[in-house]
Amino acid sequence: MRVPMIAGNWKMNTTVVEAVKLVREVCPELDRIDGVVKVVCPPFISLTAVKKLLKGSSIKLGAQNLYFEEKGAYTGEISPLMLADLCQFVIVGHSERRQYFNETGEIVNKKVIAALKSGLTPILCVGESLKENEAGRTADMVTGQLKDALAGVDSLRDLVIAYEPVWAIGTGRAATGEQAERTIGLIRHNISILYNKETAERTLVLYGGSVTADNVAEFVRQPEIDGGLVGGASLKADQFVSIVRQTSEIKR
Ligand code: 13P
Repeated sequence: MRVPMIAGNWKMNTTVVEAVKLVREVCPELDRIDGVVKVVCPPFISLTAVKKLLKGSSIKLGAQNLYFEEKGAYTGEISPLMLADLCQFVIVGHSERRQYFNETGEIVNKKVIAALKSGLTPILCVGESLKENEAGRTADMVTGQLKDALAGVDSLRDLVIAYEPVWAIGTGRAATGEQAERTIGLIRHNISILYNKETAERTLVLYGGSVTADNVAEFVRQPEIDGGLVGGASLKADQFVSIVRQTSEIKR
């Protein structure tokens, strides 16, 4: 019932020239793979060039962040209105934004609401730190982040959730399939409490954190895990294509 998704978060990597080259490499291959929603999220400055290249393909475009005001004196920020013209998805509440740019639950909530208002589909990231994990606080943290981010959000029709344990991001130390399945099951349970069962069954929940072509199968074999939010491996054309292909075959 849920169509799986693989989204590539390129983070602060690639110049415009490099972004164009990477899209040229992955696009023809990805375009041939069906049964998976394929998304690439390059840096802001490459969105226009990448959008042109993706025209007519089945690959969707996303941004990595947004500001919650529509316009005004916010030097350096990018508004939902600017993005709505360019892309369909936007990553919100990534742990790197929470950690390095002091994004609180309240800010993440404002960004989710602003994105939805402009017709963008947020990919909302939640996940616990190593310390929280070791203290057995994963469920508490993830539940709290979800509640904060979704306060005042009536419908999850256009929202994707990504569970990204902070200790697994960029460390090469991915969660196990079972660990991710358990927490994603909990996220779905929370959605059914905050909304209803039907919403919980319909909402895509991805896993992110050191996903590679070698371990993606372990995640997408799990019934609750609907795909991946991929960082480092999304910058390598062959890895990313393989991740999408395996997801398509396993979820078929
Ligand atoms: P890595 O795949 O590089 O661990 O990054 C995951 C991530 O943060 C995706 O948003």
